[in-house]
Amino acid sequence: APSIESLNEQLNNFGISEPLPVFPDSNPTSNPIDVYRCYIAHVLAPITGVDIKLVYPALEWTQSLEKGDLILAAPRLRIPGRNGSDLTKEWAAKFPENPYVHPPTAAGTFLQFYFRKDVLSKLVLSSILGRKSAYGPIDTGKGKRVIVEFSSPNIAKPFHAGHLRSTIIGGFLSNLYESCGWEVIRMNYLGDWGKQFGILGVGYKRFGSEEKLLADPINHLFEVYVAINKIAEQEKEVEKVKAEEKGEKQVCPGLRTAYWLLLKAMEYRGTKGDKRQISNGLTDEEALEFFFKMEHGDEECIAMWKRFRELSIEKYKATYSRLNISYDDYSGESQVSKESMEKAGKMMKEMGISSESEGAIVVDFKPHAKKLGKAVVQKKDGTTLYLTRDIGAAMERYEKYKFDKMIYVVACQQDLHLQQLFMILKLLKLDWADRLTHVNFGMVLGMSSRRGTVVFLDDILADARDKMHEVMRKNEEKYKQVEDPEMVADVVGRTAVMIQDMSGKRINNYTFDMARMTSFEGDTGPYLQYAHSRLCSIQRKAGIPAENLLNADFSLLTEDHATNLIRCLAQYPDVLQNTLKTLEPTTVVTYLFKMTHLLSSSYDVLRVVGEEPKLSTARMALYESARQVLNNGMRLLGLTPVERM
Ligand code: ARG
Repeated sequence: APSIESLNEQLNNFGISEPLPVFPDSNPTSNPIDVYRCYIAHVLAPITGVDIKLVYPALEWTQSLEKGDLILAAPRLRIPGRNGSDLTKEWAAKFPENPYVHPPTAAGTFLQFYFRKDVLSKLVLSSILGRKSAYGPIDTGKGKRVIVEFSSPNIAKPFHAGHLRSTIIGGFLSNLYESCGWEVIRMNYLGDWGKQFGILGVGYKRFGSEEKLLADPINHLFEVYVAINKIAEQEKEVEKVKAEEKGEKQVCPGLRTAYWLLLKAMEYRGTKGDKRQISNGLTDEEALEFFFKMEHGDEECIAMWKRFRELSIEKYKATYSRLNISYDDYSGESQVSKESMEKAGKMMKEMGISSESEGAIVVDFKPHAKKLGKAVVQKKDGTTLYLTRDIGAAMERYEKYKFDKMIYVVACQQDLHLQQLFMILKLLKLDWADRLTHVNFGMVLGMSSRRGTVVFLDDILADARDKMHEVMRKNEEKYKQVEDPEMVADVVGRTAVMIQDMSGKRINNYTFDMARMTSFEGDTGPYLQYAHSRLCSIQRKAGIPAENLLNADFSLLTEDHATNLIRCLAQYPDVLQNTLKTLEPTTVVTYLFKMTHLLSSSYDVLRVVGEEPKLSTARMALYESARQVLNNGMRLLGLTPVERM
């Protein structure tokens, strides 16, 4: 960011000779609105008799420009025994004439400030054109490290809508923190351990194909997984019928398997167990044995599992890169060490957090938080659970990264799980336990693809691409001008999927609607891409060299349309600061739509081509600034803005 000196020099050129009184927590060199905050707070503190430390943060940006550019709610200054509307009237009357803002308006208990357009346009447009892709984020995270754990699919099981949302939201949050100066560790915590790998191993031995595995590991493993599961289910049915025919009361299959596993375990540990033959060759039991071997480091089984994992990761990487995402750490449930889980188990026991209950180890949360109930952390047979692995994983991550913050982007179905996890870490008195955040989200309804209701990310993106291609073809004239329509359709299709996902509040469910999301009407991805490509096209047609724009005469931008657009562009840094609080992609998405709506109503009023050169240049500078902000916002969301479509 430029220095305060150069900002003052700039202000001096605008005819403001008094240097800006800078408030310690403000960023006037990277956020134009902070210039106003500094000035207003400095003036308002003596008028109100309130400490500037209280006045400054009370100056808030507004969601709609009609309410002003900055607004102050009188109650926030905590003046006892005075009526808020009387106060705002008094303060408004005392506010001096100045080059920054119009005389403030007292609206009930609110004091509204409207920026003067002259200084505003110069300040904002030169900031955007000067800082380019750096305009927006403010370096508040310097020296801090955050882990964002997101996507985290389960190998051999479908990548479902929950994983898609986690990927989109997590990718965005990573970008946001990174842009604000944080060191971001993007982490994928794969579901790569558990009984399902036993099933998969057995299935693969029976009907796996090397060729298919190499060509398309994710789909092939899923295929195998589905097929073997079907067989296991059928066997169970047969067993049931057999037992019924014999008139036997059937032994609960789960119980029998557990007993069998226990015997196996004893055998494995070298204890002379009861060698009675219990297994009668059921797939399920074979699978348990496979997983059991994995847990005990059997080389052959581990080697097989490892290949499945590695080939899947390779494939995932390719898909993630289509969403502009790459990970720093592919961790997973399998990577959590026995030692850290044992250590956690010991700590829980010693601190009286866990207790034994019918052979298992449980944590009873009721004394701390009723809602959290009870949770098992170790099963009777000694095997660990999802929760146990998460406890160990969190501890290992702290050891390794010493993070200042860790965000879990996981569907709200797992709210309880994460609350339990966070509570255990808190009860363990780990001093970093309060650095964890769960960013949750609702469901996607009605999602299906060419393969039916099981959703693969690749299929969804391919469907969106084809649909988009179809929509683009309808406008033959334009379609002919696009160089690589297949590629553009792919990019815009992805945008459609992602914008639909990020449009509402995270917690809301939404219905997956291919027709609506690929439409150019309404607040859709294609609309946003269209807005960007239209700005690019204006630029191409005008042919004004980029270097001329910074020196344009911004005072020629007098129309309300221009002013309102500039006021909106000024808000972008504040929008990002607010997003750090909400952690909602929609905070950015809503803003971008508001801005592009102002844009589309401006085109007829603010023409570039065919105007007097000075005016064209000034307007081009405005459009280029809008394009830059739109581009910055889209990239932050993980989108690739297109230049033609
Ligand atoms: N693999 C899990 C699932 O698909 C999500 C993992 C969430 N992260 C975690 N640390 N538990 O349900």
